[in-house]
Amino acid sequence: MPLTVLVPGGSGQLGRDLAALASPSVDVVAPGSAELDVTATGQVLAAVRALAERAAETGAAPVVINAAAYTAVDAAETDEERAFAVNADGPRVLAAACASRRVPLIHVSTDYVFPGDASAPYEPSDKLGPRSAYGRTKAAGEDAVLGSGASSWVVRTGWLYGRSGTNFVKTMASLEASRDTLSVVDDQVGGPTWTADLAAGLLELASRAAAGEGPAQRVLHCTNAGAVSWCGFARAVFSHLGADPSRVHPCTTAEYPRPAPRPAYSVLSPASWVEAGLTPMRPWDEALEAYFAAE
Ligand SMILES: NC(=O)c1ccc[n+]([C@@H]2O[C@H](COP(=O)([O-])OP(=O)(O)OC[C@H]3O[C@@H](n4cnc5c(N)ncnc54)[C@H](OP(=O)(O)O)[C@@H]3O)[C@@H](O)[C@H]2O)c1
Repeated sequence: MPLTVLVPGGSGQLGRDLAALASPSVDVVAPGSAELDVTATGQVLAAVRALAERAAETGAAPVVINAAAYTAVDAAETDEERAFAVNADGPRVLAAACASRRVPLIHVSTDYVFPGDASAPYEPSDKLGPRSAYGRTKAAGEDAVLGSGASSWVVRTGWLYGRSGTNFVKTMASLEASRDTLSVVDDQVGGPTWTADLAAGLLELASRAAAGEGPAQRVLHCTNAGAVSWCGFARAVFSHLGADPSRVHPCTTAEYPRPAPRPAYSVLSPASWVEAGLTPMRPWDEALEAYFAAE
């Protein structure tokens, strides 16, 4: 079934990889925040109306994938009001507009909604307990979407990197070029995820949702498979750059304090994704290899 997809947050790293999936059967409209501000109610209503009209004209099925977010985790500690507006109020309005136009909505969320003190991968049904302002606003966004009456799904992911934007992989590549050695925290574990892989997964879910065959489970976890510490991830980046990974030294979170607390353990279980019949995500190290091969 041909799709027409609205991607708020189209200029972000995930948004750009979603836009790159446009094809003859997938029409993607991916406005940046200057064109579609999710905190501007009128703009949101107009964008969803335009999507529904475009779909009616072309015979394609409409769907929204929300990639817009306030993602400055540390800045959110002192700017929670703004983060809440983007991460919770905006999605609430977007979901209400989708509900009234009967447009399915896929909303992207984060591992930061969990407390991060687990020792086994988090399942969607595990108790939330965000420890940061960013995590609290994202948890509120999930509630707003799920309670909106829209045909909606929340997809939690983590540790994103992509070709555009600032991210850990790019930071490590630039530090490799400028430093002999560096220290990276080794006591935080997560699942690095290439935005191109996540985008493909979200589009698969969107196709199902648009066909009226979305999974019964409305909160799903989607990351590249496996887990690693930031230090291990940095060493893998160095290896791909042809640099000696032993130049990356492990340190503790206590040695590298940040304004916002980070979850020590934020691995998300793939079970919900696989049980929903969606294509399993490849291991994080294979995805990283593919990312560098595509550079
Ligand atoms: N990055 C990660 O490691 C990570 C981990 C877990 C989950 N996530 C989630 O994954 C999703 C995508 O993240 P990402 O890494 O692609 O983030 P990103 O690169 O920071 O992109 C977010 C986009 O949202 C836009 N935005 C900000 N305020 C907006 C507003 N008021 N209206 C419309 N758009 C607005 C930004 O536009 P401007 O640049 O113009 O402000 C930016 O293009 C988000 O839901 C995020 O919470 C990310």
